[in-house]
Amino acid sequence: MSADDIAEGQQRGEGRRTDAEAVLSVRDLTVGFGSNIVLEKLNLDIYRGEILGFVGASGTGKSVLMRTVLRLLPRRAGSIKILGAEYDAVSEEERVELDMRLGVLFQHGALFPR
Ligand SMILES: Nc1ncnc2c1ncn2[C@@H]1O[C@H](COP(=O)(O)OP(=O)(O)OP(=O)(O)O)[C@@H](O)[C@H]1O
Ligand SMILES: [Mg+2]
Repeated sequence: MSADDIAEGQQRGEGRRTDAEAVLSVRDLTVGFGSNIVLEKLNLDIYRGEILGFVGASGTGKSVLMRTVLRLLPRRAGSIKILGAEYDAVSEEERVELDMRLGVLFQHGALFPR
């Protein structure tokens, strides 16, 4: 998955409120495992009130993106801002407060598992 893939999808999202507060901002995110570069220089903004769905073939990096945002996976490059705070720059206390505002339903807990 590349920056272009997501930028293209976002451009199609007519009526996006780009003046609204970004609750998640990802810049130049690169994540890989050995020689397998899964996300390369990915940019993404999600705004308050917005619902964004990721659609992609199996193994293209949807879960890796989510797990990296949650800091469950390390990144090689890039920055992640949640609710205006740069994750790497906040204190441990602020980090816990931020984490408490995030909710995640992991894939294996989905309503319709196969
Ligand atoms: N912990 C890991 N170690 C090594 N490789 C990994 C790890 N997690 C994911 N990968 C690899 O990263 C790539 C993207 O996987 P990911 O799970 O993000 O795909 P996905 O888009 O969520 O697929 P699906 O639609 O099946 O859920 C795959 O090539 C996968 O093998
Ligand atoms: Mg997945």
